[in-house]
Amino acid sequence: MSFLARSFTALAAMNTVVSAVASPVSMTNGSSTNATAYRPKVILDNDWETTGFISYLQALSAGWEVLGLASDTANSWALQTGLHALATLEAGNLSCIPVYLGSDYPLINTPKLFRAWEDVHGVLPWEGAFAPMNLTAEEAGSDPTSGDPKRISRAAFYEGFPNVTAQDISAAEFMVQSVRKYPGEVSIYSAGALTNVALAIRMDPSFASNAKELVIMGGYIDLNLLQTTGSVLLADLQSDINLIIDPEASKIAVKADFPNITFAGNVANQVMATQSFLEELHEVKNAYSELAYTRYNTDFPLWDETAAALMVDPSLALNTTSFYVDVDTAYGSPSYGNIHAYQEALAPTAQELRKVNYVLEIDGEGLKAQIKKAVQQPPTCADLPWI
Ligand SMILES: *[C@@H]1O[C@H](CO)[C@@H](O)[C@H](O)[C@H]1NC(C)=O
Ligand SMILES: *[C@@H]1O[C@H](CO)[C@@H](O)[C@H](O)[C@H]1NC(C)=O
Ligand SMILES: *[C@@H]1O[C@H](CO)[C@@H](O)[C@H](O)[C@H]1NC(C)=O
Ligand SMILES: *[C@@H]1O[C@H](CO)[C@@H](O)[C@H](O)[C@H]1NC(C)=O
Ligand SMILES: *[C@@H]1O[C@H](CO)[C@@H](O)[C@H](O)[C@H]1NC(C)=O
Ligand SMILES: *[C@@H]1O[C@H](CO)[C@@H](O)[C@H](O)[C@H]1NC(C)=O
Ligand SMILES: *[C@@H]1O[C@H](CO)[C@@H](O)[C@H](O)[C@H]1NC(C)=O
Repeated sequence: MSFLARSFTALAAMNTVVSAVASPVSMTNGSSTNATAYRPKVILDNDWETTGFISYLQALSAGWEVLGLASDTANSWALQTGLHALATLEAGNLSCIPVYLGSDYPLINTPKLFRAWEDVHGVLPWEGAFAPMNLTAEEAGSDPTSGDPKRISRAAFYEGFPNVTAQDISAAEFMVQSVRKYPGEVSIYSAGALTNVALAIRMDPSFASNAKELVIMGGYIDLNLLQTTGSVLLADLQSDINLIIDPEASKIAVKADFPNITFAGNVANQVMATQSFLEELHEVKNAYSELAYTRYNTDFPLWDETAAALMVDPSLALNTTSFYVDVDTAYGSPSYGNIHAYQEALAPTAQELRKVNYVLEIDGEGLKAQIKKAVQQPPTCADLPWI
């Protein structure tokens, strides 16, 4: 109840803030009222949660047209994460951005298969949607894991339960339709599992080549030693659930002929969400800064935000390498779902791998500045020139 009260106050405060400053879209490009001006287009696919809104605010703040949000099963089931997408948009008067529900299940993986794999290869410290079902935790505010993918945990909606519904076509269909409508223009941002992306690739053979790029959060490399020498939390941060929960989809996605594929892998662990940064965000009061301040977990790095930042402003990448990449899809392997990288001279010949960009270092101050602007000056639907 106190949260709701705060949230209404925050909305009222946001009103003042938004009218007091120029629209972030116009600040970026001076064309906020020009409905026909060119804007990069993006579909953001994620396992949305209460504090998952920052990535789409970063895109909006940079003047990008967010065609829609897609949900997937990674940290929780796709229905619950899709409801979080709807709810966080609603909390900031952004419900004009449509939400598409993704596939409930990975292509092949299931909680049971995953548990059997863990019995042989060891526990993944962050198990995401495949963690054992715990109704006590759900009632106390956790998103649902295992059990029925259609289960909803209402207690997890700290941002409010959505009053708006998702669109009636699937995330993969939406991706295919959008790329057909705007060939060469649509960035696909994937900060959860790659299931929907893989389905879109298989539905339409021209999907990947007609998209603009694929930006992936995940794909850690060479972190095994770190998984043994630190705490379980440190190992948890190297879990790579986004790729591991659906190894086969990950392989389909990174082998597809997108004109450009960029990984925010190890670099996504570089900048932490510190308490002082959250306090800085909260210096301007609005629904989003309130949620970030009260709910963002300071144990975690700015994972999805790092991927979004590199997408909207590639100049934030301070060190980038490129290599050919595959995903291990051998169920009998302890690296099932992890990437494997090759230099050109050593790349396999029996399969065609793509050369991808792999960012090694980000301008941390630039990342934080981008997030701060996005969270402190979010647009509402009234500010979006293409609506
Ligand atoms: C959001 O919409 C509600 C209901 O229409 C309105 O009362 C509120 O002022 C809006 N908030 C902002 C920040 O535009
Ligand atoms: C709006 O954008 C279009 C496309 O970029 C451009 O041709 C037009 O001149 C712009 N109009 C204004 C008023 O800036
Ligand atoms: C700003 O809009 C113009 C079209 O009006 C476009 O050509 C240009 O690329 C845009 N710049 C940025 C930074 O988005
Ligand atoms: C949906 O409406 C109810 C009743 O007005 C409100 O309590 C809740 O916060 C709303 N949901 C969101 C996400 O704003
Ligand atoms: C279930 O979640 C509760 C609350 O978070 C926790 O105390 C308990 O240990 C969990 N049970 C199991 C079996 O993990
Ligand atoms: C591909 O993406 C990277 C990283 O965003 C960028 O630096 C590069 O210019 C892009 N290449 C092409 C051909 O668009
Ligand atoms: C980029 O990263 C690689 C691998 O860690 C390192 O060898 C190289 O020195 C770095 N380059 C710069 C300019 O920091």
